[in-house]
Amino acid sequence: MLDEIPLSKPCIDDHDIDMVVGVLKSGRLSLGPMQERFERAVGNVTGRRHAVACSSGTAGLHLVLTAMGIGPGDEVVTPTFSFVASANSICMAGAKPVFVDIETKSLNADPEKIEAAITNKTKAILAVECFGNPTHMDTYRRIAEKHEIKLIEDACEGLGGKLRGVPIGSFGHAAVFGFYPNKQITTGEGGMIVTDDDHLAERCMSLRNQGRASKADAKTSAGGGALGSGWMAFERLGFNYRMNELSAALGVSQISKLHRLIEQRQELADLYTERLMGHTDLIIPNAPEGVDMSWFVFVVRLGATYTRTERDRIIEGMHRHDVGAAPYFPCIHLQKHYREHFGYREGDFPVAESVSQRTIAIPFYPGMTGRDLDFVASSLGLMISRENLSKRD
Ligand SMILES: Cc1ncc(COP(=O)(O)O)c(C=O)c1O
Repeated sequence: MLDEIPLSKPCIDDHDIDMVVGVLKSGRLSLGPMQERFERAVGNVTGRRHAVACSSGTAGLHLVLTAMGIGPGDEVVTPTFSFVASANSICMAGAKPVFVDIETKSLNADPEKIEAAITNKTKAILAVECFGNPTHMDTYRRIAEKHEIKLIEDACEGLGGKLRGVPIGSFGHAAVFGFYPNKQITTGEGGMIVTDDDHLAERCMSLRNQGRASKADAKTSAGGGALGSGWMAFERLGFNYRMNELSAALGVSQISKLHRLIEQRQELADLYTERLMGHTDLIIPNAPEGVDMSWFVFVVRLGATYTRTERDRIIEGMHRHDVGAAPYFPCIHLQKHYREHFGYREGDFPVAESVSQRTIAIPFYPGMTGRDLDFVASSLGLMISRENLSKRD
């Protein structure tokens, strides 16, 4: 059953709808002009020379790793506290994810732990702007340069954020954004790679399109004998990770409102902070000096005395009030695949494990009213008080 006040909700207006309907009426549902328009728009926001649209953030990460030639025998250092797709993409490329712990303020990977995890097999750092926070991105870049490895930004949660005026997406050799419906802007499903590297961009374009030449044109399908030519010639093993025109058109419309949407998310974050700040059992997220957050979700944390079971009961209680709430994120190294294939265990990354058992993501989307916010805050407060009462009994 859906919650009355959900965790997230896409912000779709008439212009978005008109743009998608326009594509439907045009009959050109794939390989049309919208993909390129959306690519140019994301390139402009991030200040990067190339933007390559693809079917999801996960696909984008897989494309970048593959295009960089990262595969079996290689290691990629990445935080355990992220959405599972960050590490899955490394496994999909055939490389080994080497997890690191996080620091407690930004919840991003601890730079010292990253440096300590680098070996002669490490080919890249896949860093995450957790919940839209770019803290440490410049440090990660320095570490990558020092060790002559690549920095890949998993920027799926951070479009529009900045660190000391520098946009998220412009720190890494390449960065990848995601546009799932809970993101700052959405294309339904979709992703975007950005980079200044001409060769990498070409490779990504080819790989997303079955391995065709990056400039292959669907109109040149004729002839070619056994090897094929034009559209029917394939230069390498590729995937179908293209973005369709309906998604791209929605992206073009959504990105034209990016600044407003981010401002609205900031206003909501400020209101939540005001309402929840006095609560002694809660740690409220905030943006440090020099950080312009692109708030993806609003995740509060219970104090150190709370257990995972207590946190889960609080979340269940909020659902009974028809309020969305979720544990963001369970550590990746403790997921079944990573325990079984790489031998990770509880206790390996104590900071991330401790944080992850006490997080609660609460409803957060433009369009939430003051009343919605009050209702969420009182539901959360009530459930915490209940938990405290039952502890005393
Ligand atoms: C940090 C991070 N990486 C990767 C992804 C994957 O993006 P997608 O769902 O578009 O494949 C997400 C999506 O939520 C994410 O939050």
